Amino acid sequence: MTPEEFVAELDRENRALLARLAEKSAAGEPGEELTVVALLKVALRNEYEAADLAARWMTDTPELDAKLALARQCGDEAKHYRWIEERLAALGADLRGFDPAAPGPSPLSVRLRQLPTTVERAAAGQFTREAIAVARNDVFAAFCEERGDAATAALYRDRIQPDERHHHELGRRLLLRYAVGDEAQARARSAARETLRIADEIQELARLKTGLCRAPGC
Ligand SMILES: [Fe+2]
Ligand SMILES: [Fe+2]
Repeated sequence: MTPEEFVAELDRENRALLARLAEKSAAGEPGEELTVVALLKVALRNEYEAADLAARWMTDTPELDAKLALARQCGDEAKHYRWIEERLAALGADLRGFDPAAPGPSPLSVRLRQLPTTVERAAAGQFTREAIAVARNDVFAAFCEERGDAATAALYRDRIQPDERHHHELGRRLLLRYAVGDEAQARARSAARETLRIADEIQELARLKTGLCRAPGC
């Protein structure tokens, strides 16, 4: 397969699985105890983990274009962290003592950190994880609007989402360049599938434990 054919196929597969993930994420009536503030705190953790992962990968990714894409992403996720923090402050949330790293790395971060090659990182961390973030953030923005919080919905739709879409596109560009040949494509495909599988499991666990089914991504 050419890299173009490969990326088109991966995109199709991802979209089908993502549609199901977003459907599940939006399913059911969220309880009153599920608040925008609680979900924004989950978002802080996701943004922190995305920035941290991009920084880790940047140090040992040899290709200059991939390294710079990771640097750009790291800066964007840090910026999102601060924007969300500002929004939480405006909502009156108390973040004293809040440490996004306190629960330890999420199962997805643990797995993603282990990916050694640029194609796997681009496929899992950017092309797939960022597509998941875009799908979840849409669900979250709709939830904010339902709760009458237009400002948080606008923060996501107008400021955060354009960056997350850009991160996904960075992944696409890197795959078009580096997903050359059967071996690289097989690695990329399996890393992308595993990312979706773990994201689905985490979402399911969170839903069962706390009903956090509208949580945004990174
Ligand atoms: Fe992102
Ligand atoms: Fe982000």
